[in-house]
Amino acid sequence: MSVYASTLKRLATSPKTWLVTGAAGFIGSNLVETLLRAGQTVRGLDNLCTGYRKNLVMVEAAVGAEAFSRFTFIEGDIRDLETCHAACKGVDYVLHEAAIGSVPRSIDEPIFTNANNIDGFLNMLVAARDAKVKNFVYAASSSTYGDEPTLPKQEHRIGKPLSPYAVTKYVNELYADVFATTYGMNSIGLRYFNIFGQRQDPAGAYAAVIPLWFDAILKGVQVYINGDGETSRDFCFIDNCVQANILAACAENPEALNKVYNVAVGERTTLNELFALLRTEAARHNPAVAGAKPEYREFRQGDVRHSLADITLARTLLGFEPEFTVEQGMLQAGAWYAKNL
Ligand SMILES: NC(=O)c1ccc[n+]([C@@H]2O[C@H](COP(=O)([O-])OP(=O)(O)OC[C@H]3O[C@@H](n4cnc5c(N)ncnc54)[C@H](O)[C@@H]3O)[C@@H](O)[C@H]2O)c1
Repeated sequence: MSVYASTLKRLATSPKTWLVTGAAGFIGSNLVETLLRAGQTVRGLDNLCTGYRKNLVMVEAAVGAEAFSRFTFIEGDIRDLETCHAACKGVDYVLHEAAIGSVPRSIDEPIFTNANNIDGFLNMLVAARDAKVKNFVYAASSSTYGDEPTLPKQEHRIGKPLSPYAVTKYVNELYADVFATTYGMNSIGLRYFNIFGQRQDPAGAYAAVIPLWFDAILKGVQVYINGDGETSRDFCFIDNCVQANILAACAENPEALNKVYNVAVGERTTLNELFALLRTEAARHNPAVAGAKPEYREFRQGDVRHSLADITLARTLLGFEPEFTVEQGMLQAGAWYAKNL
C-alpha cells in the first residue's frame, strides 16, 4: 500500500479538523473535496477575491450532503488577524493556500500582492502558532528558483527572484523557518510547479495557461504563445498536489518537518507540446478544432525559461508518489473543462 493510501486510511479511523485557506479557489476547493471524502471536518476561509462560491457548490455536489455537513465556510480576509485567529481555533492542521497567485498581477499590483501574500501569511502563521496547530502546510512556489539555471531544480539551490510574486513566496519560506526556530512551530512549504485541473479559473486577465488555452482552443479562439514555444514547465495534475498536502500535514518524522519540497511530476513539457496535448483533448469534444495552430509573440517579462523539478526529497521524506502523468491529468481536466466551460 502506498504511503498516501495508508495515510488516508489512518485519517479515516481518526478524523481531524482542518483549516483550508483559499478554500473557494482552485487548489483550495480540491483540497476541501478530498478531505471531506476522507471523512475529515473542514473549515474553509476565503475572501472570494479570485475564488468563487460556485467552486464550493461543485464540491457539495461531488461529495454529497452528509460529507458537506462537515464543512463550514468563513468568508473573511487573511489580512485581518482576528479573522485568522477565529479560523485557526481548535484546528489540527492548516493548509494555507490563500494568496494572489499571478506573476503578471504582482508586477501590476506589487503592494496589493505583498499585503495578501506576506502580511496575510504572517497573520496566518501567528494565528496557527497561537492555536497550537500540529502542522502548518503552505503553498510555496517554483518561482522561488528565479534566475537559478540548474535543472532539475533541487530545493537547496535557489536564485534571485524575478517578480514581486516570487519575492513574496520566498519571504513566506523565510518566515516559516524563523517561526520554527523561534517558536518551535511545525510547518512545511510546498513549492508547486504549474498545477492544473478541475476548477482552475479560465477567466480574467491573469488566467493560468492551461484553462485559458483549453477554453480558447475549444471555442476556436486564437491562442498566443509568448516566445518561441520552447519554454518548458513541469506541469502537475491537481490530485498529485492534493496528495502532497495531505502527506505533508500528516508527516510525523521530525526530519520531514520544517522543510520545503518540490511538488511536481518531474517531467518537462514545452509550451508547443502543451498546445498539441490540449488541442488533442479539445478535439475529442469539438472535432472542428483538430487543426488549430498557435500564434507566436514576444516573451513575457518575469517568465522563467525552463522549469523542471527534482522530487526526490518529497519522495524520500514524505512518501510522495505522483499518481497522474501530465497526459492522464489532461484527460481528466479536459473532460471537466469541456463539461463546465
Ligand atoms: N496554481 C498553481 O500552479 C500554483 C503554483 C504555485 C503556487 N501556487 C499557490 O497556490 C495557492 C493557491 O493557488 P490557486 O491556483 O488555487 O489560486 P486561486 O486564485 O484559485 O486561489 C487562491 C484563493 O485565495 C483566496 N484569497 C486571496 N487573497 C485572500 C485573502 N486576503 N483572504 C482570504 N482569501 C484570499 C482567493 O479568493 C482564492 O479563492 C496560492 O498561494 C498560489 O500562490 C499555485
